[in-house]
Amino acid sequence: MGIDLKQHGAVAIVTVNQPDKLNALNTKRAEALLETFLKIGPDRSIRAVIMTGAGDRAFIAGADIKQMANLDRAGATAFARLGHSVARAIETIPQPVIAAVNGFALGGGCELSLACDIRLAATNAVFAQPEVGLGIPPGWGGTQRLPRVVGPGLAAEMILTGRRVKADEALRIGLVNAVHEPDQLLDTALAMAQQIAKNSPQAVSASKRLIGLAFAGHPAAGLSSEAHAFAAQFGGADQREGMAAFIEKRPAEFAG
Ligand code: CAA
Repeated sequence: MGIDLKQHGAVAIVTVNQPDKLNALNTKRAEALLETFLKIGPDRSIRAVIMTGAGDRAFIAGADIKQMANLDRAGATAFARLGHSVARAIETIPQPVIAAVNGFALGGGCELSLACDIRLAATNAVFAQPEVGLGIPPGWGGTQRLPRVVGPGLAAEMILTGRRVKADEALRIGLVNAVHEPDQLLDTALAMAQQIAKNSPQAVSASKRLIGLAFAGHPAAGLSSEAHAFAAQFGGADQREGMAAFIEKRPAEFAG
């Protein structure tokens, strides 16, 4: 259980493998995910990557709330920075990364999918940034990357309401490129990755880097503010109430 890395020819498949926890990422699994992408980057035998979740319910249901519930501000800053490092590794390795979103992509899961170059969804995919209901803002890049993908208005609606966006809406708003039946998703992602892998690796990686430059303004400055605001909520009443409510399986009540 953890992070699986398999290679099909020139395509690597990275699978977050903790299906009983809907592939939620604690520090250990996020660090393993980071190491996996850092290992893939310099491997010239890999020309394209697919990231997905084990099981049939979730891509990644977010950062591990049970671990976060006990973080102090220093711990929360480190946790935000860890998520940022995973996302930056996905964005900066030379190989394109396709997210095969096979169920819940919530909070940190949605945020890591946003760092991928291409998102394909299964019909049961569900995206959301539900952090505000837990007493925190998004902390793994959602405030900076979601507006770049769906535009600021829709990003604001998703982040401020926390509402869930299903696959058909995700397709309509440009959050995903295509929607497939769950049993077709990985094969379709594999076919796309294999097509990428046939092209010049230098031209592909240069194109990936250049597409990243299309939106002027590096996300680093915003990410720094995001990590600060995320950590600032820890130890406060709203973060304690929001996460306790999740763990106790009851609705949160925020005094504000
Ligand atoms: N953290 C920790 N555990 C999680 C989890 C998460 N994000 N998501 C699911 N799990 C665990 C559940 O606690 C449960 O474990 P137990 O069996 O030990 O109780 C197991 O996964 C199965 O989940 P449920 O029983 O809750 O399954 P469900 O079908 O009833 O509900 C769900 C599914 C709607 C996705 C629900 O699990 C849920 O709401 N999960 C939390 C989603 C969320 O809020 N994610 C964002 C986290 S915040 C974040 O990511 C911050 C950031 O920006 C970095």
